[in-house]
Amino acid sequence: MSLLDPVSVPPLAEAYPCAPARLRHYLAEEPLLSLPALADAARVLPRSEVGEWGEPCEVAGLPRAVPQAPADPLALLQSGGPGRRGVVLRDLMRLPGYRALVLRLVRELEPVIARATGPMQALRARAFISWTNLRTPFHFNPAYMLLLQIRGDRVLAAYPAAPPFLDLARREAHLREGTKRLEWRPELAAVGHQHVLAPGDGLCLPHAAPHWVHSGEGLSIALALSWQCRRTRAEADALALNPLLRKVGLPPYDPAVRRAAPWLRAAASRAGQRLGLV
Ligand SMILES: [Fe+2]
Repeated sequence: MSLLDPVSVPPLAEAYPCAPARLRHYLAEEPLLSLPALADAARVLPRSEVGEWGEPCEVAGLPRAVPQAPADPLALLQSGGPGRRGVVLRDLMRLPGYRALVLRLVRELEPVIARATGPMQALRARAFISWTNLRTPFHFNPAYMLLLQIRGDRVLAAYPAAPPFLDLARREAHLREGTKRLEWRPELAAVGHQHVLAPGDGLCLPHAAPHWVHSGEGLSIALALSWQCRRTRAEADALALNPLLRKVGLPPYDPAVRRAAPWLRAAASRAGQRLGLV
């Protein structure tokens, strides 16, 4: 049985890798993605792969009745919640059952993905669990992302991976410091495309597309796949070369300005990294 609704695949093929694409999936009843199974997974994963995420949202007119979360996200998961923050399981593919499930998904995605961007690289699978309204502030992840809503609902607002939403300075800050958060300005609220995701809905985002997320009231579970391709890895290498280029008076690489893949700059960057210059 397929995991993706085949009707979703042609629109995904049309949109990927440039635009967000909605799809439908059949994972909402998957036992491995139930709360008890994810609590078991959290027990087996290295402690460093189980963390907290999100910020509580104030809901106008409603009292804040949610109790304080235990400090330990593993304890929070095992108690079944609720918590004021969510729990993220960061590297589910370490576990054979989850790895097999993700690879089944990849087999269905890969004909579309590989045709556009080549083989999926650095594939990761994470699960996000929350029990109350939570928000993830405006940010970007330097990866392609497929978010599959399993339980409850969430809203994800997506923006183009280009100025004024994501500029070169922010891309370089991420490489330098790991900063993913982006400055929020109220006027952005009217610009992003808000996708409401219920169980069975999925959303594929272009590489590094800025977004914010609100998970809804009650238990919300989502599975997120992220990946790179040969070109996005070359872009990251080319960006890493920018500080050195500036020092010697050469123009930096900006993916928003140069449409061609930066193969030469990436090769120079990798050579520089080997020599300890980058
Ligand atoms: Fe994100």
